[in-house]
Amino acid sequence: MAMTEKKMDAMQGHWVLARLGKRILRPGGMEMTRKMLEKLNVSTDDDVVEFAPGLGYTARLTVAKKPRSYTAVELNEEAAALVRRNVEPAYPALNVVTGNAADTGLPDSYATKVYGEAMLTMQSMEKKDAIVAEAARILKPGGRYGIHEIALQPAEISDEKKREIRHELQMGIRTSVHPLTRREWEELLGRHGMQVEYVYENGMLLLEPKRMIDDEGLWRFLLIQLRMLFNRNARQAVLRMRSCFRKYRRHLTGITIVARKM
Ligand SMILES: C[S@@+](CC[C@H](N)C(=O)[O-])C[C@H]1O[C@@H](n2cnc3c(N)ncnc32)[C@H](O)[C@@H]1O
Repeated sequence: MAMTEKKMDAMQGHWVLARLGKRILRPGGMEMTRKMLEKLNVSTDDDVVEFAPGLGYTARLTVAKKPRSYTAVELNEEAAALVRRNVEPAYPALNVVTGNAADTGLPDSYATKVYGEAMLTMQSMEKKDAIVAEAARILKPGGRYGIHEIALQPAEISDEKKREIRHELQMGIRTSVHPLTRREWEELLGRHGMQVEYVYENGMLLLEPKRMIDDEGLWRFLLIQLRMLFNRNARQAVLRMRSCFRKYRRHLTGITIVARKM
């Protein structure tokens, strides 16, 4: 137990939350995931690629639409195994690539829909560009790319404030965090030949009780609280993240964008 607790203190925030039983690890919650999926409009004619499925909860919603194919590209081996375990019973034909979304090894024009949630914000600008370039490469012209990330506001936020927020988030979440403003996210997609079709923003309320109950259900919310009660380091890690999100509440939003490859 002591060992687990110690490990939790140094662990990246999303893995602490996952160990506590939190299933929804993306900033805009299930509300935003549903909006993104609605605009992506996956059907039986689609070849779908998901970047960084994590535990595979969005994957389950996607495969319920019975796409022609579904491929997950996940860097973390443990998560890749969990995706397989969580999704295979509903969609035995799933393809899991354990590797980097910046270099998937998939053929050009392989997919009609590509999406990734809570995975670009943690990358440097160079890596963001590499991942979006890869999405553009594997998408067929006319195909769609959906992202769900953290945005900074207002549009004219100073560089100094951006640096401060990045630094504090990094300390809070224990991973690199580079959120962009809405305009910067749109420009990132535009640089790689994508035309933005849809943008939606909501509050960064990932660890607020109401959002947690909406995302996880009351019983799972209570289970997470109980586990936090008995694991001091995990509790401290969660409270550290939450106080950071609260401190910068006015500057942080969840954002989803769906763009069309031209
Ligand atoms: C915060 S979790 C989000 C998981 C899931 N998308 C969700 O919203 O619940 C971040 C995930 O991104 C994965 N990841 C980070 N960088 C990646 C990359 N370059 N390629 C593929 N997966 C990556 C991590 O392994 C982790 O599973």
